[in-house]
Amino acid sequence: MQKIILPNHYLTMMGNKDFTCIADLPKKEWKDLFEKAEAFATQAPPPLLKGRLLANCFFEPSTRTRLSFEAAMHRLGGAVIGFADSLSTSVQKGESLHDTIRVIGSYADIVVIRHSEAGAAEIASSATDKPVINAGDGGNEHPTQTLVDLYTILQRRGTIDGLNIGIAGDLKHGRAVHSLCKALSEYKVRLTFFSAPSLDLPKDLIALLKEKGIACKWAQSMEELVGAVDVLYMTRIQKERFAPGELKNPCLLKRAHLRGAKGDLMILHPLPRVDEIDRSIDETKFAAYFEQAANGVPVRMALLAFLLDKSGSGT
Ligand code: NCD
Repeated sequence: MQKIILPNHYLTMMGNKDFTCIADLPKKEWKDLFEKAEAFATQAPPPLLKGRLLANCFFEPSTRTRLSFEAAMHRLGGAVIGFADSLSTSVQKGESLHDTIRVIGSYADIVVIRHSEAGAAEIASSATDKPVINAGDGGNEHPTQTLVDLYTILQRRGTIDGLNIGIAGDLKHGRAVHSLCKALSEYKVRLTFFSAPSLDLPKDLIALLKEKGIACKWAQSMEELVGAVDVLYMTRIQKERFAPGELKNPCLLKRAHLRGAKGDLMILHPLPRVDEIDRSIDETKFAAYFEQAANGVPVRMALLAFLLDKSGSGT
């Protein structure tokens, strides 16, 4: 059966089957989703997804995202198939992404995809009628990470409005940063950025933030950044996306930087960490990044329940 491809605005009006970018899930849905995640985290989850099958298609390395989707599906009574790298798939024989996902979509009820190419999740979405979740497409977006980030901030702070949020590291290639900035543009926040000059935020994203009336500042040092913000979002250099050469990363958080921090500063990092946050910070009250990683499971449980419920047939 040929899939009819509708323009994006039409899909939004109808309610998109997928979650390929943060804009696919309007802000008005986030509160319900986070409440559901909270319930899943604090009570024994019901087997809501019994009999449903998730396909985890990871063409790029992953620890947290892949395993938290797997854990989320199992915890809701569902089952998982998939692969953790493309070496064991027919992509090695020259099969297209479209054909691969079309077939996998005929086996499973929902498809999760991570890929090194920006736009891969959109291609996957056009290849199957099943819901597709973007678990990171190249340097483009990583919308489920953003849901986890927002949930973690709300858990500690109770609000996002009014916060000054600092984002440091690879702002240019960081897909988690891109989705987060888009989501934060829906709140009344101030944003403070710090990066190596060559790794600044893409111009179209800066334009979007300005258009949404978000006050943006650029710090000149880690000291300045840490002293100014309520939430500090650290990221690693995405060295798989470019040739960093002699690039020296100025965004390294040391224990001494925290002397100038607000008492309730929270530090986030999508992980994996390379050397951006000194390990001696892990046991301080400021560190929230392992909490954030753990939140990946209940938040993804809530998302799976939401999308599979919307796609019908079963729950
Ligand atoms: C992020 C990613 O893959 O984009 N990791 C993750 O999913 N938690 C961040 C990164 O790899 O730096």
